Amino acid sequence: MTAAAVLCGLGSWLPDGEVTNADLAAQLDTTDDWIRTRTGIRTRYVVSPGEATGDLAVEAGRRALKSAGTEHADAVVVATSTPDRPCPATAPEVASRLGLPDVAAFDVAAVCTGFVYALATAAGLIATGAAGSVLVIGADTFSTILDPADRTTRAIFGDGAGAVVLRAGEPGEAGAIGGLALGSDGSRSELIEVPAGGSRQRSTGRPAAPGEEYFAMQGRPVFAEAVRRMSESVEATAARLGWRVEDVDRVVLHQANARILAAVAARLGIPAERFVANIDRVGNTVAASVPLALGDGVADGELRPGQQVVLAGFGGGLTWGSAGLVWPELTPA
Ligand code: UT7
Repeated sequence: MTAAAVLCGLGSWLPDGEVTNADLAAQLDTTDDWIRTRTGIRTRYVVSPGEATGDLAVEAGRRALKSAGTEHADAVVVATSTPDRPCPATAPEVASRLGLPDVAAFDVAAVCTGFVYALATAAGLIATGAAGSVLVIGADTFSTILDPADRTTRAIFGDGAGAVVLRAGEPGEAGAIGGLALGSDGSRSELIEVPAGGSRQRSTGRPAAPGEEYFAMQGRPVFAEAVRRMSESVEATAARLGWRVEDVDRVVLHQANARILAAVAARLGIPAERFVANIDRVGNTVAASVPLALGDGVADGELRPGQQVVLAGFGGGLTWGSAGLVWPELTPA
């Protein structure tokens, strides 16, 4: 029988630098009221000068390994779109710093869907026998690519890292990742982008135009797509697992906007109370969003062993994806 990837460890890490809505209102033309009512966010955390995505990834990864009661993983997959450097990938150095020399290590870039894509990649490594255990880390430092003058993106995004350990096990076990459903629509890539800094701009020989090195997002169409794609994704995962949508106990969506969570709940006909939410405390942490929500979901008593849980992400690419599991016994670190 093909081995399943079983969730057995969970770790979270946030940088020290808290930025409250009041802090933003002191710098930009915005208010605490606008940010809370339009996004549900109260605060977010950002890295200090010199601190990078890999630093957050190491801390979250260390905690996930501790939570799993192990010091070893056969592979490290880092989901990020803010790597420490454009080249090489961030994962090999993270693996090395975690005391995992010689293991397979690479990055997955799917922006806010990165963690779900990395989970699917790790499940594939385990199913093929290429790895018996995988450390999957979602880590991003969007504060390093935001336009300091952009009140919308600065209100939304925060930095952070979340990690899980997956081990080879049986498909019927609690914690076994199943129902994976992934998708993309590259015809709409311009809705979420950093226009400059890649080969498209660099090969022209022209320097980037002012502001093109910053992250840019067209909020309204992205909002509509996020609601549609994550709703359809949750339905696809439930169907693949043979679950009825109304029997899903907890939904853990990418924390992009509290209004997106409410809209997906309404569209699916699942009570909003079944949606795990920590966006008020951390903002939109991109690839770290889903694993940080898992950690807070357990800490808040929202995620409990035996529940049928569906995870879903949506982000730049455009990309989306989802997975399901019966929540296992574990203690996050
Ligand atoms: O994580 C990956 C996927 N990302 C998402 O899913 C994000 C999806 N989009 C969103 O969450 C929302 O579209 C935003 C939070 C980004 C924006 O909220 P919105 O309700 O769609 O606002 P809007 O862009 O339509 O702007 C409404 C107004 C505008 O002013 P005018 O043109 O009506 O005068 C904006 O300039 O709100 C203004 N605005 C702000 N006002 C105060 C935009 N940002 C701010 C701000 N403070 N921070």
